[in-house]
Amino acid sequence: MFSVKRLVESGNCYQSVPLEYVFKTNPNDDCTNITDADTIPTIDISLLTSGSPEQRSDVIQSIGKACREWGFFMVINHGVAKAVRDEMLRASESFFKQTEEQMQEYAGKKLFDPIRWGTGFNRAVDTTFFWRDYLKVHVHPHFNAPQNPPGFSDILQEYCKRSREVAGELLKGISKSLGLEESYIDKTMDLETSSHQLLVVNLYPPCPQPELAMGLPPHSDHGLLTILMQNGLQGLQVHHNGSWVSIDPLPDSFVVNIGDHMEILSNGKYKSVLHRAVVNGGATRVSIATAHGPPLQKVVVPAPELVHRENRPPAYRGIKYKEYLELQQSSPLDGKSCLTHV
Ligand code: SIN
Ligand code: FE2
Repeated sequence: MFSVKRLVESGNCYQSVPLEYVFKTNPNDDCTNITDADTIPTIDISLLTSGSPEQRSDVIQSIGKACREWGFFMVINHGVAKAVRDEMLRASESFFKQTEEQMQEYAGKKLFDPIRWGTGFNRAVDTTFFWRDYLKVHVHPHFNAPQNPPGFSDILQEYCKRSREVAGELLKGISKSLGLEESYIDKTMDLETSSHQLLVVNLYPPCPQPELAMGLPPHSDHGLLTILMQNGLQGLQVHHNGSWVSIDPLPDSFVVNIGDHMEILSNGKYKSVLHRAVVNGGATRVSIATAHGPPLQKVVVPAPELVHRENRPPAYRGIKYKEYLELQQSSPLDGKSCLTHV
């Protein structure tokens, strides 16, 4: 496999980006309209458990507002220790520092293989190559991890467990913000035992012409929600009111976004939002996403309680999570093209 990291290290793209990595935007879209005038809301989730009743209800309202207006928010006071986050980032970087031969056993794998190392999005269908290498690991309900580098598996297991706990707290808050019982999503989606969790480590090496290449093109995420940690370098941009907003996360925060299956479950009340990853000329950016979804066999439909209460017919066709993943990952990554409305 020819990774972007190797391309950069080989010196073959010292001054310019190879043509196949030049990202072609549709001239009619607003890809170049970038703003930092506004940013995503910040949610202190410690208040969900330790706040006064008034604080709890304020946080739930803020979560609802963030989900409706942005589909993205930052989470602070999430309880995941700095030592765990730092070690997870360090160990992930060490994974990519191995030789290509050491990572080769995870190359050329399929979507549901436990561990996949690759480049771009799906090189079988990508028309442009993306400036990104990745490691994808299915970590729940069955835990998997690369054996090397030593210690990676332990920290990966710990980090993924902690991020499931954060997701669990957020899903309670999101349930309440939809006017549903706190454990509604947890119970109806069978999350306790068989939620599906995918870990994606993204590596974006420095790019000689960052304005020409794209780390990840505009897309929405599958699943209920995604929790993202980054190594302090900017790159994530969120589509909001017709512009791309660059996200500069607070130190120690996670960035959280609503996934396509939350859009379906909430019958469109909360929408998954387009985002993309741009690259930079100076340093390697690393981001670690955990996608929290229902069990693979689960068919997600709009919550009947919301459909009845709001007297709005189901706006989405139900689809098995596994089939959705297959559809999304076998097509070119292209906006929200996989979500089917009724
Ligand atoms: C993603 O959308 O999955 C990753 C975005 C990022 O690297 O910030
Ligand atoms: Fe994403």
